[in-house]
Amino acid sequence: MFLVTGATGGIGRRVVRLLRQQEKSVRTFVRLTSSYSELEHRGADIFIGDLRSEKDIEKACQGVQYIISAHGSDGDALSLDYRANIELIEQAKANGVQHFVFISVLGADRGYEDAPVFKAKRAVEQYLQASGLNYTILRPAGLASNLLPLAERFRETGLYLLVGDPKNRTSIVSTDDLARIVVDSVTVEGARNQILSVGGPEILLREDIPRIFSRVFSKEPIVINSPLFVVDGLRSALGLFNPKTQKALGTYRTLLSNEFFCTKEETANLERIFNFKLETLESFLRRYLAV
Ligand SMILES: NC(=O)c1ccc[n+]([C@@H]2O[C@H](COP(=O)([O-])OP(=O)(O)OC[C@H]3O[C@@H](n4cnc5c(N)ncnc54)[C@H](OP(=O)(O)O)[C@@H]3O)[C@@H](O)[C@H]2O)c1
Repeated sequence: MFLVTGATGGIGRRVVRLLRQQEKSVRTFVRLTSSYSELEHRGADIFIGDLRSEKDIEKACQGVQYIISAHGSDGDALSLDYRANIELIEQAKANGVQHFVFISVLGADRGYEDAPVFKAKRAVEQYLQASGLNYTILRPAGLASNLLPLAERFRETGLYLLVGDPKNRTSIVSTDDLARIVVDSVTVEGARNQILSVGGPEILLREDIPRIFSRVFSKEPIVINSPLFVVDGLRSALGLFNPKTQKALGTYRTLLSNEFFCTKEETANLERIFNFKLETLESFLRRYLAV
């Protein structure tokens, strides 16, 4: 039995789909407010709970052999990115789990002080490595599925809002490729007890994204490039009313102001370990947007 957290999210939903296609039994950890009917239709067990509750985590982990931690944090890195994962690891040990897959983030080890999510992910990585469990830690770059709403807006308006340096490099990964890597991690020997950076096959500049949209929709892009100090200004203003949100926005600012790409060697290593060719962003977009 697999336990998947974040099963209604961009990665988790695809992971459950793949596991069910392979007829694996899957327990999905969802909130009562989540949209989980697709998971039910695919034959996954539904465990309703909240990852802020240790009791819920304890119950959800009973009798599972594999845990895939793919939940997000809704701006509460301490409770969800950190505490919930530590509790999942403890329960994995208590239940003799065979393999734990943890979705971290590219750059988790760079020591960004102002980014609670990155700090929590690094602390969990270290805890998992010291746990004695078999593990795979995946550090993805940006997900292609996040760009789908922006592509839809571009299709209608031709507009693309680019915040920060247009020359910053990124290697957006196909969310379907990432899900496949997650699922294969529990069986592929080369993925056992590894930390792997996961990016797409190309190193893109952020300004390449509206160019790709333009090719996909045959439409001239109108790029609005907002400098980072606009985000900083908004963040400071917000801080006057809500210091907690201001802190959480540190992760967002870190994402906007730094480069998140995999080297050619890292990508080649990934393709070798998992034995398939990674998909480009353009191919992903064309598949989903039927163009
Ligand atoms: N998106 C990216 O570009 C990216 C890049 C690198 C790493 N990552 C990491 O990958 C992981 C998954 O990202 P994603 O984009 O697939 O996530 P996502 O689409 O934002 O989904 C987040 C998931 O977490 C669940 N969740 C949030 N709070 C919860 C709680 N208190 N109890 C139970 N479930 C809760 C959500 O459930 P609901 O349906 O109830 O909201 C949802 O299923 C995250 O750890 C993220 O840090 C993401």
